Amino acid sequence: MCGIMGYIGGKNAAENVLEGLKRLEYRGYDSAGIAVLDNKGTISVVKRQGRVIKLEPLIKNLQGGAAIGHTRWATHGRPCDGNAHPHSAGRITIVHNGIIENYAELKKQFTDEDETFFSETDSEVVAKLINKNYNGNLLCALYKTVCVLKGSYALMAICEGVDAIAVAKCKSSVILGFGSGENYCASDEPALAGKCSEICSLEDYDLALITRKSIQIFDGNLNPVSRTKRPNTAVSASLDLNGYPHYMLKELHEVPASIKNTVSAFPEVCGSYLKAVAGADRIILLGCGTAYHAALIGKRYFECFARIPAEAETSGEFRYKNPVITKNTAVLAISQSGETADTVEAARLASSLGAKVVAVTNAPYSRLTRISDVSVPVEAGSEICVAATKSYTGQVAALYLCALAFANGGISEKELSELEKIPKLCKTALNDINVDSLAQMCAQSHGVYFIGKDLDYAVALEGSLKLKEVSYVPSEGYPAGELKHGTLALIDGNTVSVALMFDEKLSEKCSNAVEQVLSRGGKAAVITDSETIANKFRNRCSVIIMPNAGKYLSPLVSAVAVQAIAYKCAVFLGRDPDKPRNLAKSVTVE
Ligand code: AGP
Repeated sequence: MCGIMGYIGGKNAAENVLEGLKRLEYRGYDSAGIAVLDNKGTISVVKRQGRVIKLEPLIKNLQGGAAIGHTRWATHGRPCDGNAHPHSAGRITIVHNGIIENYAELKKQFTDEDETFFSETDSEVVAKLINKNYNGNLLCALYKTVCVLKGSYALMAICEGVDAIAVAKCKSSVILGFGSGENYCASDEPALAGKCSEICSLEDYDLALITRKSIQIFDGNLNPVSRTKRPNTAVSASLDLNGYPHYMLKELHEVPASIKNTVSAFPEVCGSYLKAVAGADRIILLGCGTAYHAALIGKRYFECFARIPAEAETSGEFRYKNPVITKNTAVLAISQSGETADTVEAARLASSLGAKVVAVTNAPYSRLTRISDVSVPVEAGSEICVAATKSYTGQVAALYLCALAFANGGISEKELSELEKIPKLCKTALNDINVDSLAQMCAQSHGVYFIGKDLDYAVALEGSLKLKEVSYVPSEGYPAGELKHGTLALIDGNTVSVALMFDEKLSEKCSNAVEQVLSRGGKAAVITDSETIANKFRNRCSVIIMPNAGKYLSPLVSAVAVQAIAYKCAVFLGRDPDKPRNLAKSVTVE
């Protein structure tokens, strides 16, 4: 992960890069740093543990037309000033996003020669290598260096006395921005929003030399190549909280718009989607974290609507298990960012084995989109909070449409109008439900167990992830029937079991699990759309009534409840729900 950005031109480079880094903080916020190359050819570095904003006072006196910067999500070496990027060696200073897998053996060559390392990172050795390889040509030194690297990298390097930025890419994204008398490079588009009119993406093993006047791109054999330019449509996410105290709450209130816009966008891509998946006899849905939880729901949609074998797997497991794929396998790769390394690589693997790959993503120009046969848009808009809320419901809506279209060879007006009712129900739920006392109960508990059956179980997993992610309260999601096979041993007065019951037929069975919890002195809560179920448990445990969206669309509504509980619980505990500890929004490393 990590966000990186470079600028070279006539403006104040440090200020420019700082602005870009602020927009890349969703990629990590453990530390940040900027290196500036001034007009005399001297490099100055500032870096600090913590958020990008800490650099603001430090760059005040840094003048210069070229700069590279970094916002870090720590992989190798704890978050501290010393491990913050940029890293320097001799005349060279670099920033790196990715993981250098063979860093230990590369480092040994230097430590054997008594070279001192100033950080515990895998990246510092790259600076040492470029410096060692430097013979008056920065690009050649970078090229020689990447030839010995194993792993993933988006690298930017500057050199004392050389008015240029050299860039290299393998597996981690690099976007170049073409300006007039100035040029840019960044790990992701938001950094370049409004800065230049055209951008392009580098391919794996590409290198580039960026000066004020030109950008030269080279392939992995150092042959000049050109990469397709596209208009820079990147928009900087509005940082306006619109009166909400946190982005998580703001984005939760944008769930209805996310569903509405995702539904409106589908008819336009329906034809190309159906063409790509035509003849599929098996569906595999892939994703990580929340996107995997959406995949679990998508799997049930394909099974129920199309009666086709469907599997949901976490991308990180799929890519290492020698998967069985035929040319009749359709893979739906789900990712808010479209940059999650495991999902991109899993999709790439599936494609190389002959599967048709459908990207279900919020990011139209992401790595995932570029390697997929077709892209189904999730129109959630930008999601700043690290915890996914509206992107999850957008994904579920998109998967519902994908499964239905696959089953029926298209989407009817009637089906669309069914979905169009959901945003209103979510809005009602957001305005009417009060989860305060349940959230407080969760905040005071030793552990929270979300339970449910079938689709409710998939949402239970998401509720559990959301709660632990933003509140740090230990939590697990279980199929309701599994409780008695082990977890019941943990139930006591300090635990809360939250049962989701949105499927009338299965509610009876889930009710049994709640009874078992209550009879063992555990605290319980029921979230349901059924008055009958609510009446059964009212006065015995906390009950939250949600609008009825019907069995298959209920996850779009029940998700709002579990997301709201997690948010409130985080707030009660004084956590920052938007930037939970140890996490990042975009996970671009393994
Ligand atoms: C969700 O709240 C998490 N932040 C996380 O699980 C996320 O969904 C996961 O990292 C996948 O990200 P992606 O959708 O961008 O691929």
